[in-house]
Amino acid sequence: MRQQIAAANWKMNLTIGQAEKLLDDILSVDWALKPWQQVVLAVPAPYLYPAVQKWKASGQSQVSISAQNCYSEKSGAYTGETSAEMLASLVVTHVIIGHSERREIFHETNALLAKKVDIALSFNLTPIFCCGEPLSIREAGTQNAFVAKQLEESLYHLDAETIQKLVIAYEPIWAIGTGKTATSEQAQEMHHYLRSVLAHKYGAAVAGRVSILYGGSVKAANAQELFSQPDVDGGLVGGASLIHKEFDAIIRALK
Ligand code: PGA
Repeated sequence: MRQQIAAANWKMNLTIGQAEKLLDDILSVDWALKPWQQVVLAVPAPYLYPAVQKWKASGQSQVSISAQNCYSEKSGAYTGETSAEMLASLVVTHVIIGHSERREIFHETNALLAKKVDIALSFNLTPIFCCGEPLSIREAGTQNAFVAKQLEESLYHLDAETIQKLVIAYEPIWAIGTGKTATSEQAQEMHHYLRSVLAHKYGAAVAGRVSILYGGSVKAANAQELFSQPDVDGGLVGGASLIHKEFDAIIRALK
């Protein structure tokens, strides 16, 4: 069984007091996770250190703390940025790379994201690589080519062994924060396509080992239906991950 992952993306939300309360709520639960199930918490950068401390104290071996971004260079005069090496030194294990908000608001290109993937991997961080199309592309029916290009330009320089170290998140932009979830059929169709694209490049066995998460208005009410699809290996969850009860139910919906 591929890793099935419930990943929380808190984005730029919560004060430290609220963040600590939510971490305490989440980390105090025993979900009796199966060996292939995992919970990842992508918290804002200033909360990574306290989050790691709380996670260590909790003894939750199937929970990981993730950053939401890192910079593409190793170190130096990059005021305001966070390096992959800094994250690794905090015992952060994952980093979201290429979220559509980074692509759209901060103009991150496929080429820049390739560099970010490389530097994250060089410090043994697991990139959660996001891809997904805007509404105009979905309406034009060209979403498959659009998303395949994102993978090609940011990931195809990796060899077959390395690509398996990544988690991919398919997040249609029209479904992010809009309450408009892709149907489970739409999600499955794209995830199956992405896996076939990976299989074409790396072979079916390798493609079969890469977890592909769905993101875009995942909530307690739709998680089970989405996660039950054969190529949907869990979710990257924004808004609903800020509400303990909602995220708890999403974790329990993992297959
Ligand atoms: P959402 O965000 O769950 O609030 O739609 C998902 C994401 O952007 O990762």
